[in-house]
Amino acid sequence: MSFYDVLHRRRDTRGEFTGAPIPPDVLRRVLSAAHAAPSVGLSQPWDFIVVRDEHTRRAFRDHVQAERDVFASGLDGERAETFARIKVEGILEATLGVVVTYDPDRGSPAVLGRHAIADAGLYSVCLAIENLWLAATAEGLGVGWVSFYREDALRRLLDIPSTVRPVAWLCVGPVHSLPGAPDLERHGWRNRLPLEDVLHQERYTRRSAR
Ligand SMILES: Cc1cc2nc3c(=O)[nH]c(=O)nc-3n(C[C@H](O)[C@H](O)[C@H](O)COP(=O)(O)O)c2cc1C
Repeated sequence: MSFYDVLHRRRDTRGEFTGAPIPPDVLRRVLSAAHAAPSVGLSQPWDFIVVRDEHTRRAFRDHVQAERDVFASGLDGERAETFARIKVEGILEATLGVVVTYDPDRGSPAVLGRHAIADAGLYSVCLAIENLWLAATAEGLGVGWVSFYREDALRRLLDIPSTVRPVAWLCVGPVHSLPGAPDLERHGWRNRLPLEDVLHQERYTRRSAR
């Protein structure tokens, strides 16, 4: 696959996992790709926790279901009906979970380039996640990002220190296929915007709500 094929084939995956094992060398390449990401001041503020244990995954899935209910309770009418049809996680169906965390103390106190923008550390972690996602796609694996959780709940579950932020629970594993379009588009929740809608020349042009 060419780079652009991989980029456009990448999909958030929830219902397509087979549960088949991931060969150790494949998992190693995918995690190495994540660890090769750029980071502010070369701080490399990420950690990757590989979660296979069924009991842990069940506990997390139960928490996510409760948070899904919290979100659903704020929806009315068509939004509520549409959301009810959308799967938001494949925690148990995936082969394993990779939890990616952000440690703001890594490389501190003088993180080169972070003095004015504290979030630059978090941006770095997101780049590691995107690297992981693209590498997994190139390897024929699916990845599903789960964010329906309270950070403290996930900290408690995985013994993550209070100063470290869990950024993502990624469901990872072989898939039957990758859908051609985002799940949210297929269910009529929201569509990808045309590039023109988000492209500006020289100055930020204010536009109606997108
Ligand atoms: C920060 C972030 C959090 C997300 N959280 C969830 C989630 O909790 N559950 C879910 O099903 N998808 C989640 N997604 C996936 C998005 O819904 C998905 O990326 C988007 O609909 C576009 O689809 P695509 O990734 O297949 O192109 C998340 C994505 C990002 C970047």
